[in-house]
Amino acid sequence: MNILVTGGAGFIGSNFVYYMLREHPDYRIVCIDKLTYAGNLETLEEALKNPNFAFVKADIADREAVYALFEKEGFDVVVNFAAESHVDRSIETPELFLSTNVMGTQVLLDASRKYGVKRYHQVSTDEVYGDLPLDRKDLFFTETTPIHTSSPYSASKAAADLLVLAYHRTYKLPVTISRCSNNYGPYHFPEKLIPLVISRALADEPLPIYGKGENVRDWLFVEDHCSAIDLIIHKGRVGEVYNIGGHNEKTNLEVVKEILKQLGKPESLITYVTDRPGHDMRYAIDPTKIVTELGWKPAHDFESGIKYTVQWYLDNRKWWENIVNGEYKNYYEKMYSGR
Ligand code: NAD
Ligand code: DAU
Repeated sequence: MNILVTGGAGFIGSNFVYYMLREHPDYRIVCIDKLTYAGNLETLEEALKNPNFAFVKADIADREAVYALFEKEGFDVVVNFAAESHVDRSIETPELFLSTNVMGTQVLLDASRKYGVKRYHQVSTDEVYGDLPLDRKDLFFTETTPIHTSSPYSASKAAADLLVLAYHRTYKLPVTISRCSNNYGPYHFPEKLIPLVISRALADEPLPIYGKGENVRDWLFVEDHCSAIDLIIHKGRVGEVYNIGGHNEKTNLEVVKEILKQLGKPESLITYVTDRPGHDMRYAIDPTKIVTELGWKPAHDFESGIKYTVQWYLDNRKWWENIVNGEYKNYYEKMYSGR
């Protein structure tokens, strides 16, 4: 099996590359990544030593480069992780999100059609469903929850999902889509809440919490997302959407306080800053379909996953210190100063 993994130098894509090389040692995995601010070849250092792995630096929206790669490799499966992924950045520069997340997806769909891939899998997000109210704990996102997006990021991901489904209906392209809740774990870029809090708390810097910190996210350890996608590309039904989540709902304040406890740092580091515009209140996934149909089961709960993750950041300081001491400083200043 020859699998194209797009965005494999980012957080979830890199974890998926390692997961697949370990679980399917006979597969060939090719990664295409533009190496934006979020892509990091250091993350793939170990994978690059594996003869079954290859890396190509290219933009998924570059039709010529993508077609040449498909022609050369004859991929069986495409798993599209490549995206602009940060909601806050999408509020600053929506156009970049449209060009990568929508137009990039379209190029991959065209290539998959032209070169006859057996499965195109789109890695989507629970954010396409919008949000749920905080006072209705009985409500969850199912695969039939209407698309109702809040940010330019989620709107671009929803647009891509609709294109994927249209290519299935119109051209019979064999597609699947997964919509996962918030991931955390190794190689998570420090602009996102959990690695931001770990890296700043270790430096005794203030932790910026949006609004009152009462927004709820449904956290899944990244390897459980990888195992779900592995199942879907092998056993999932063509044309179907699968939600992925493990019922680990936490308020942002609960998450931050747990990290501070594990690091032995004081809660006085918490500071409240102006809220994110359009901030979604609560995400909560109903994973019944993937659990009953494909037998997926997460291996980690939040308690074990967050312990592992905090320890990973303590053991891999060089990886994230290289990031937070670089261009990231300007990003942080721009997004948070005087907020
Ligand atoms: P990330 O930002 O860490 O990584 C994105 C990767 O895509 C980077 O390596 C980047 O260089 C690459 N990339 C960006 N634009 C590209 C382009 N035009 N061509 C080629 N490569 C490009 O993102 P992530 O958190 O790993 O998310 C991966 C995917 O999973 C995204 O599609 C995201 O929408 C989805 N997702 C993320 C989460 C989460 O909690 N992080 C949850 C559900 C779904
Ligand atoms: O639900 C899946 C989505 O999860 C993915 O599709 C996105 O790619 C991914 O970035 C993530 O989106 P969120 O917006 O939920 O993640 P983020 O880490 O940016 O924020 C998590 C929560 O923490 C959210 O309620 C906003 C809040 N937050 C975030 C940052 C960066 C803060 O309070 N302070 C911060 O500095």
